[in-house]
Amino acid sequence: MENLAIVGLQWGDEGKGKLVDFLTDRYDAVVRYNGGSNAGHTVVFARRRHTFHLVPSGALKGGRLIIGAGVALDPEVLSEELGLLKGQGVKVNLLVDGRCTLVSPLEKHLDALIEEARGSSALGTTRRGIGPSYAMRAFRLAPRAVDLFSDFDMNATRKFCAMLGVSSPGLDTWIAGARRVLKGRLGDAGAAVREVNEGGGGVLFEGSQGTLLDLLHGSYPFVTSSHTLASYIPASLGIPNSRVGRVVGVTKCYATRVGGGPFPSEIKGRLGERLREAGNEYGATTGRPRRVGWLDFVALKYSIGLNDAHEIAVTKVDVLSKFKEFKVCVAYSIDGSETTNFQQSLAHLGRAEPIYETPFSLYDTGFGSRSSPKLRELIDFLEESLRVRVRLVSYGEERSKTIEL
Ligand code: IMP
Ligand code: MG
Repeated sequence: MENLAIVGLQWGDEGKGKLVDFLTDRYDAVVRYNGGSNAGHTVVFARRRHTFHLVPSGALKGGRLIIGAGVALDPEVLSEELGLLKGQGVKVNLLVDGRCTLVSPLEKHLDALIEEARGSSALGTTRRGIGPSYAMRAFRLAPRAVDLFSDFDMNATRKFCAMLGVSSPGLDTWIAGARRVLKGRLGDAGAAVREVNEGGGGVLFEGSQGTLLDLLHGSYPFVTSSHTLASYIPASLGIPNSRVGRVVGVTKCYATRVGGGPFPSEIKGRLGERLREAGNEYGATTGRPRRVGWLDFVALKYSIGLNDAHEIAVTKVDVLSKFKEFKVCVAYSIDGSETTNFQQSLAHLGRAEPIYETPFSLYDTGFGSRSSPKLRELIDFLEESLRVRVRLVSYGEERSKTIEL
């Protein structure tokens, strides 16, 4: 059976968690490969809202869960999530790669300090210590999960942090807690994926954040500190490229972004507020109001290309059925010239004025069935404009409100 990757095509919060939950029982394992507890994956089941930060979103269906080496792992958050799931009677079968970089209180302090240093140009990070943790990994100062059980020397790490004015008196308690949560769960994520595949099964790779937040290919420096593209899956897990399988890119039928950075198709004012309320666009990790905007084909085509995502899932179509307006940004005007290229330069992207098309209204549309003519029109429009196949449509939070095509 072929593996499947679910990746975000925008700035995160596309609804990946819901789709992973929907698809989970066809696969033998769900695998996280990037980011850390900055992610907030919301799954609504039986009218209950579950938010996962580290545990893969397949958890509610009881399947096998794997966290790969490329994840920044905060053991305190993991412990909390496992506790919550246990309290709900959910049995968790989780394997964590021993090579995962750990996030300690030191990195969370550093995250806050760096944001403070940026002042008015702060990135608006989730303050979960993600950037500093990957940086400490690159400095070779971060302990990995497996190092908790051997002799990793934390002295240089402590000294370096002290030089930066960051101390963490509770570090020994933190280490003891981290050992407790990780004991008996460590292993080799890549080997586990290969084992599933060799037994004829398939795995679901669950992306976190979105393509436009990728450290190298996103709107730097307003990005996260890991790689969000499907091409990071083999590197993170230690598996061959050929194991990535099919890639399904996920996009809302509008756009959102949390935190700072350029957002050419942003909708400000009253309409923006209405859309935020209608879509309940508040960060699952930080509770911050998300910025909202129209669908941006320039950005989407860029993301589709980067991931080779010729199959897509479109989410939240029900939200736009409350609006008479439906606009799509088809090009940018920058200093008087028109372009359909997503810009490398932050200044150019910041000055990009959206050029809109108004294809049709999605107002008052019953999206609940695949035979809805308006849904067909929307799908045809997206497939033609983006040269993709629409495979899944989500028209509500509940698992049942999903159409497969
Ligand atoms: P960091 O990942 O906490 O360092 O934050 C860097 C940027 O990425 C900020 O703009 C965050 O709001 C954004 N970000 C990080 N994780 C997510 C996510 O899961 N969804 C949406 N935005 C995110
Ligand atoms: Mg989210």
